Amino acid sequence: MLDLYLPMMRCAGVLAAAQLGLFAQLARKPATAIRLAAALHVQAHGVERLADLLVSAGYLQRRRGGVYANSAHTKRWFTPSGEVDFTAGLAWTREAWSLLGGLGPAIARGGPSVSLWQRMAKQPKLGVTFAKYMRAFAEFSSPRIAKAVTLPRGAKRLLDIGGSHGLHSIAFCRANPGLEAVVFDQAAALRETRRHVRASGMQSRITTRVGDCTKDDLGRGFDAILYFSVAHNQSASGNARVLAKCSRALNAGGVLVMHDYLRGHMPEPYNAAFDLTLLLEVGHRTYGLADFQSWVRAAGLQRFRQHDLAPAAMGTLMTATKP
Ligand SMILES: C[S@@+](CC[C@H](N)C(=O)[O-])C[C@H]1O[C@@H](n2cnc3c(N)ncnc32)[C@H](O)[C@@H]1O
Repeated sequence: MLDLYLPMMRCAGVLAAAQLGLFAQLARKPATAIRLAAALHVQAHGVERLADLLVSAGYLQRRRGGVYANSAHTKRWFTPSGEVDFTAGLAWTREAWSLLGGLGPAIARGGPSVSLWQRMAKQPKLGVTFAKYMRAFAEFSSPRIAKAVTLPRGAKRLLDIGGSHGLHSIAFCRANPGLEAVVFDQAAALRETRRHVRASGMQSRITTRVGDCTKDDLGRGFDAILYFSVAHNQSASGNARVLAKCSRALNAGGVLVMHDYLRGHMPEPYNAAFDLTLLLEVGHRTYGLADFQSWVRAAGLQRFRQHDLAPAAMGTLMTATKP
């Protein structure tokens, strides 16, 4: 039982700490439980127990005089002093945790009774929490990806399917001065996008469009299309249809850039966990390189290229060109 109980409590403790703002407060100033509780407006005896759990799990240090401070790991990943603050990921994990009780029934049914996207359409705050988490990932990956991908010379128009927060479009527009982008996604995912675009100073070059890539027309005349972490949210036949639409939406010489977490390319424990999460949340699965290759071929795209990012948990980039 301890094999299950201890990681469960560690995870719950980290999520509660983020919810209460404990890591952010300690990033401002290390403190005793009493001072920490006063700053967070909560009860000191509860904070002390939580802090002790986090010390035993390596997330905090306990110094002389009962002063608590963030460990180097916490500072790096869950406070604004790290390269990217993944606190948004902890807020999302709290939402995901509440869905896990439905795992057995979802397995029995073969998928969720209500998909994550339907939930978000009904509870827009859930969509905002998810987009913030995706944005934290993209803060980390988007400059690296934009650097690794060469768009056709003089590329003018980019479509970012499932673009959510818009960070990938921003990174590609920064790297390609003549480029304009359309961030295309469901309404719940786009609620903060215009604000991010304004903050980047790109409002004259990046617009948003609400839509469903499986049902709506994608438009025409694009030099580049991004399909980042969307494929694992669709069925295989759905992806084949979307890629065929992408092919029609691209100019000759235009490039389709895909990013996903491929089975066979991810560390196996991560793939197994993510695959099961997808079954629970959206009723779909991770795909392999051969799946992407077959959709690309059927869509009439050519010159398929693939590049595993480092570390491997960051996924794989794939490109294909419209002849
Ligand atoms: C895992 S997130 C990835 C966000 C972003 N592309 C990135 O890589 O950071 C998947 C995104 O795809 C969007 N999405 C899922 N199904 C979609 C569909 N049928 N049409 C448009 N967007 C979709 C979701 O709303 C979500 O924003």
